[in-house]
Amino acid sequence: MKVTVVGAGAVGATTADNIARKQIVDEVVLLDIKQGVAEGKAMDLMQTASLEGFDTRIIGSTNDYTKTAKSDVVVITSGLPRKPGMTREELIGINAGIVKGVVTQILEQSPKAILLIVSNPMDTMTYLALQVAQSMGVNKKRVIGMGGALDSSRFRYFLSQATGFAQNDIHGQVIGGHGDTTMIPLTRLATVNSIPVSRFLGKEELAKVAADTMVGGATLTGLLGTSAWYAPGIAACSVVEAIVRDEKRIIPSCVYLNGEYGQKDICLGVPVVLGRNGWEKIINLRLSQEEQAAFSKSADAVRNMNSVLAT
Ligand code: NAI
Repeated sequence: MKVTVVGAGAVGATTADNIARKQIVDEVVLLDIKQGVAEGKAMDLMQTASLEGFDTRIIGSTNDYTKTAKSDVVVITSGLPRKPGMTREELIGINAGIVKGVVTQILEQSPKAILLIVSNPMDTMTYLALQVAQSMGVNKKRVIGMGGALDSSRFRYFLSQATGFAQNDIHGQVIGGHGDTTMIPLTRLATVNSIPVSRFLGKEELAKVAADTMVGGATLTGLLGTSAWYAPGIAACSVVEAIVRDEKRIIPSCVYLNGEYGQKDICLGVPVVLGRNGWEKIINLRLSQEEQAAFSKSADAVRNMNSVLAT
């Protein structure tokens, strides 16, 4: 199998690195618009193969899309990351142009590829990618936005910090938009080895975990001066893995809603079953009134952002 990662920056290169080390595909193509960067990162990564013990081929390409032909999955990370103090939403203008051009060129070479959108503002970029893809005959189930995988791993981290239990024993999902004010960490449904976390944390502590999760990305941007890449890279890789290995994992992901969760004509984060054909099924959680209200508010904010695309 073949995966292309567009954008050989921090997140793209880390995604390619994880995919190669897990040996889940035969070939990874790393493509970037900046002369030599993708070739350089591909060579650097290939020089880890004997040390890591993988045999996945990593090929770099400076904007030559013919090298991406017949990819099974394409991860799109091209675009600007945010700087301290910026919201993901402020990236819309530049990144929309980039994502539109990239999706068109990718689908010309790989009409059957499943697209995984990472570029921010991710919910809007996924909606835009879907519009372009559908105009080129692609099924909506083959366009997925990555946000929930990352936000949920951050949620599990903060729950682990607050409870003292191992991250691996903690389960929790973040749904809604992938924005500081639009994401919804589902504290009510989170568990430690199937025991509700509310057994270990009080209301205020749970509210703090949710708040920390929501600004988890901004906290890192403040520390790093740019947005994070280790967790985003492995989160994107985990979605690729679920697809190429047909794992049927439930991972909250940004997909097109057509009435589910009371929303239509929008891409937003909900739990979906991932497999070889993309997102195969939306899992309908029974949300509380409060959670449903938060979901509707999140959808309003994302819809507002999507309207900028039309201008
Ligand atoms: P970066 O600046 O390190 O890398 C972006 C790369 O895209 C650069 O190498 C640049 O040359 C390339 N690029 C720009 N225009 C291109 C084009 N037309 N074709 C091909 N390549 C092009 O940025 P980083 O940190 O890798 O972040 C990438 C994107 O991912 C940002 O928009 C960021 O906000 C987003 N992001 C999304 C996350 C999520 O959970 N969805 C998590 C972290 C970052």
